[in-house]
Amino acid sequence: MQVIAGSASTSLAERVSRELGNSPFAIPFTKRFPDGELYVRVGGRLADEDVVLVQTTRTDEQILELLLLEEAIREAGARRLFVVIPYFGYARQDRPFYPGEPASARALAHHVELAADAVVTVDLHSTETLRSFSKPAYEATGVPAIARVLRERTVDLLISPDKGGVDRVRRMAGILGKPWLALEKKRIDSDHVELTLPEQDLPPLEGQHVAILDDVISTGGTIVEAARLLHRYKVATVVAACTHGLFLRDAFERIKAVCDHLYSTDTLDNPADKVSVAPDIAQILQRECASR
Ligand code: R5P
Repeated sequence: MQVIAGSASTSLAERVSRELGNSPFAIPFTKRFPDGELYVRVGGRLADEDVVLVQTTRTDEQILELLLLEEAIREAGARRLFVVIPYFGYARQDRPFYPGEPASARALAHHVELAADAVVTVDLHSTETLRSFSKPAYEATGVPAIARVLRERTVDLLISPDKGGVDRVRRMAGILGKPWLALEKKRIDSDHVELTLPEQDLPPLEGQHVAILDDVISTGGTIVEAARLLHRYKVATVVAACTHGLFLRDAFERIKAVCDHLYSTDTLDNPADKVSVAPDIAQILQRECASR
């Protein structure tokens, strides 16, 4: 199996190749034509090989690069192509919310799978998006990776900032053997949220070391509000952890001002990407390869 890195996921692709037993790893040549169009070229011998292509699709340029690389790998005669999309852009528009809108995630899925034999992604906004693929599609989760780093800290209580994250926090609670709770979240606009504690018997908060888990940190509004709320109840320390760290604008600094530690996985390159989902992706690839 050969691993090829898209420009958005070079480090993670290299880690995946190591997890696959140091399988051959390559970075394609890319450049821009004078008119701005993208040029890609994959090197090496790919004929009759199984190829893993890793590329996060955070920007439109990265999506185009992925599609061109898929085509190039097919053109080079690869036997099977496994496409790994660590952060699946457009996943949040997974259905039309108003008349006239597309299900953007589905549109992307259709184009990605044209040249792929299977697709692997990580913590989709909605697992339902897997149904948009007609080829085998799998979702790894950042939970085991984040658990590896939380194990090294004192954590008494796990917090999901919203009800949508209950499965994630429950899973983490199972791994770490800790209690959890989910906050009530009301989104005011794309930059602001209101968070409250749920109306139920709550575990003690004062003096506790808490960890907030989210799938995505984007503007940081959710994590900042969650940390502020928990500090009002006099928690001792707050760790924030997410699978996908977008950290838009000054999110990183705002979170660091209210949290003691901040971790994200390496689905997106960022200063907090201290834990890797490479073992979890490699496990799915090995299983998929063996099953065919
Ligand atoms: C929402 O459904 C997600 O789980 C995240 O809570 C959200 O995307 C975080 O966004 P922000 O960092 O902008 O509050």
